[in-house]
Amino acid sequence: MTLSDPTPLESRSVTALSGRVRVPGDKSISHRALILGALAVGETRVSGLLESEDVLNTANAMRALGARVTRTGPEAWSVQGVGVGGFAAPDAPLDFGNSGTGCRLVMGAVAGCPIAATFDGDASLRKRPMRRILDPLEQMGARVVAAAEGGRLPLTLQGARDPLPITYRSPVASAQIKSAVLLAGLSAPGVTTVIEPEASRDHTELMLAHFGAHVVSEAEGAHGRRIALTGQPELHGAQVVVPADPSSAAFPIVAALIVPQSDIVLTDVMTNPLRTGLFTTLREMGGLIEESERRNDTGEPMAQLRVRASRLRGVTVPPERAPSMIDEYLVLAVAAAFAEGTTVMRGLQELRVKESDRLEATADMLRVNGVEVAVSGDDLIVVGKGHVPGGGLVATHMDHRIAMSALVMGMAADAPVKVDDTTFIATSFPDFIPMMRGMGADFS
Ligand code: S3P
Repeated sequence: MTLSDPTPLESRSVTALSGRVRVPGDKSISHRALILGALAVGETRVSGLLESEDVLNTANAMRALGARVTRTGPEAWSVQGVGVGGFAAPDAPLDFGNSGTGCRLVMGAVAGCPIAATFDGDASLRKRPMRRILDPLEQMGARVVAAAEGGRLPLTLQGARDPLPITYRSPVASAQIKSAVLLAGLSAPGVTTVIEPEASRDHTELMLAHFGAHVVSEAEGAHGRRIALTGQPELHGAQVVVPADPSSAAFPIVAALIVPQSDIVLTDVMTNPLRTGLFTTLREMGGLIEESERRNDTGEPMAQLRVRASRLRGVTVPPERAPSMIDEYLVLAVAAAFAEGTTVMRGLQELRVKESDRLEATADMLRVNGVEVAVSGDDLIVVGKGHVPGGGLVATHMDHRIAMSALVMGMAADAPVKVDDTTFIATSFPDFIPMMRGMGADFS
C-alpha cells in the first residue's frame, strides 16, 4: 500500500443521488470476529466480513499466530481457532498496515500468550501512540522487548507466561484500549476489569459473551462503564453475522443530505447506540433519516435507513457524544459546512491520534474549499453558509476518511473538489468509488 503511486480523484456536483445499497460489513466487528475466532476452540463462521486491507491484515496476523483462516465465499470466512492462550510465535513481523484497531487488539491477545511477536505497520501507524495499550498490558505481565521511540512501531512484545488479572481505569474512552485489556485478560486467572470514563463501543464485550465468556458490564458514574471479564473461559467457535458499517454508511448518508433531490436507502446498517452519535447529530441538524425494519437477531441491532436531501442547520455537539461518533467528525464537518449557521463540535482531542491528526486535517480540508473554520483547543467550529465554494485540493495524509469526506463535499460544492490520493480508501471501504458512482456521483 505504501509503495503504490498516489491516485488523485476529482468530485463534481450532481443534482441527485438515488438507489438502494448495502455498505460493506462493519470494520470493528470484522476484526473482532477474526480475533475471537482464532482464540476459540472449533470453527467460527463469519458472513458479511469486510474484505478491506485493514481486516485482511488481521486475518493474516491470525494465520501467522497459528489459526486456520480461510475464505469460503464472497465475504464468507471460516476460522479454526487455537484456544485461549494458544497462539504460536510468528516467524515474521506482523504487518497491520494502516490499522490501529487490528494492531492494538492483537497486541492484547498476544500479551496473554507466552510468545514474542513483532508488530509493524505503515508510516501512519508507525506515528500513532502505543503506550496507551502497552501500559496496562505491562501491568498484566507482558514486556516490551524492543520499540521505536516513544513506544511506537515497530515493536516487539513478549506476552506473559502467567498473566495477572487487573482492574484498569482507562484515562481515555477508547474501545481499543478496553478491548486489548480484555483480550489479554482472557488468559488471566480471575476477573479482569476495565473502567472507562465514557462508554465506548461495546462490540468486544458483546462478542466475548457470544463466544461463551462471562462478561458483566455496568454503569460507572454519569457516562462511564465498568466491564468485568472472568478469565480462562473456554471460548467456543461461533457464527458471526457482520452488519453493515455505520461509519461507512456515514458517507452516502451525508452525501444524500447535501445533494439536492436525493433519496437513498441503506440496508442492514448497524444501529448499536454506541456507534450512532452521527445519526443523532444529523437529525438534530434537520436531516431526514428514517429508520425502518429494525432487527436484532444477530447480536447487534440493525435497521434500514432512508435518507433524503435536507436543509441543515448548525448545532452544538456535546463532548460526551464523541465516543459514539469518533470516526464520523470529518464527514459531519462536511455536513456542517453545507448547513445554515455555526456548528461547534466539542471535546475532539482523540481525533489528533487517528490515522492522521484529523482535527487539523478536517480544518484544512474545509479551509482549502472556502469554508470558514476554526480549531479552538479541542473544539472544531464550522461556519455553515448553506453552500461550499469548493475548488480546493485536499491532502489525505494516508487517511481513508479524509479522502471519502472530501469526495462527498465535492458532490454538492460550487466548484469540483480534488483529493490527492484515494488509495487508502481500500483500508475500510474498497467499493466506495463504484458504489457512490452507482448512486449518481461524478468522480473522475
Ligand atoms: C475502534 C475504536 C475507535 C475507532 C476505530 C475503531 C474499534 O478507536 O476510532 O476506528 O474497533 O475498537 P479508539 O478506541 O482508539 O477511540
